[in-house]
Amino acid sequence: MKFWFWISLFLIFRPMRTEERNFRVVIEQVNISNVDTNVYRNLSCELHQINNRSYLDSSHIFKYTIRDLSVHAVLDFWKLNSKTKMKLYDVQFDACNFLENASKNRLFNVYGQSLKKHANMKFKCPFLANVSYEVHNMTMDEQDFPSFVPLGKFRSLIEYLTNQKLISRFIATGKIMPYATDPFKVLQ
Ligand SMILES: *[C@@H]1O[C@H](CO)[C@@H](O)[C@H](O)[C@H]1NC(C)=O
Ligand SMILES: *[C@@H]1O[C@H](CO)[C@@H](O)[C@H](O)[C@H]1NC(C)=O
Ligand SMILES: *[C@@H]1O[C@H](CO)[C@@H](O)[C@H](O)[C@H]1NC(C)=O
Ligand SMILES: *[C@@H]1O[C@H](CO)[C@@H](O)[C@H](O)[C@H]1NC(C)=O
Ligand SMILES: *[C@@H]1O[C@H](CO)[C@@H](O)[C@H](O)[C@H]1NC(C)=O
Ligand SMILES: *[C@@H]1O[C@H](CO)[C@@H](O)[C@H](O)[C@H]1NC(C)=O
Repeated sequence: MKFWFWISLFLIFRPMRTEERNFRVVIEQVNISNVDTNVYRNLSCELHQINNRSYLDSSHIFKYTIRDLSVHAVLDFWKLNSKTKMKLYDVQFDACNFLENASKNRLFNVYGQSLKKHANMKFKCPFLANVSYEVHNMTMDEQDFPSFVPLGKFRSLIEYLTNQKLISRFIATGKIMPYATDPFKVLQ
């Protein structure tokens, strides 16, 4: 469920599909901690770098049916060469409501489409026991970002709670890097 990271980004950056972006979003490290081993049978998140692009694969298997799920998400950002931390958001919300109702919101729907593309099945509450909820090849599509995003580093914290109890924590760090677009494409 590392995809909450993308949700969070969609909440901030309005998608605009236009020209090629001159930046890349690189995820450098992802750490997960299975805080409550009574809840997960298996929890994994793997990061792959292929052709300068970051891909995430993630798998979640619960030991029992999860009817209540909420998310606490924090995104910190440091502009290039700056030591000043900017907190872009610190939010907590009901994941069940979000998953069920995302399609009603234009902004959330973009995320919904992305999740549909990468998930092995529909993610919704209740999450069933012994079913592997997987996400494959999840990547950051720069086209979903505004045309201008400042360069810098970010740290994304995502915590999952069930019945107000912390069950897992994901921390991802990465950077926004300049990326040379094809100059001939611009001239045409
Ligand atoms: C369980 O997690 C491990 C990593 O901790 C992963 O390699 C494996 O594929 C997962 N198993 C299933 C059945 O998803
Ligand atoms: C990846 O990035 C490096 C350094 O910026 C660059 O030299 C290389 O050509 C890039 N590779 C691809 C496949 O874009
Ligand atoms: C989705 O929204 C409707 C209307 O606001 C609400 O009644 C429903 O409980 C929501 N779904 C979930 C799973 O919370
Ligand atoms: C899940 O699978 C384990 C091991 O195969 C089994 O012991 C357990 O009873 C199963 N739980 C449910 C709720 O199906
Ligand atoms: C993930 O994407 C990479 C690069 O596009 C590709 O080589 C790989 O086969 C894909 N894997 C899956 C499971 O789709
Ligand atoms: C991930 O864990 C390693 C080893 O504990 C630590 O050195 C690193 O700083 C952690 N990274 C993040 C993004 O928290």
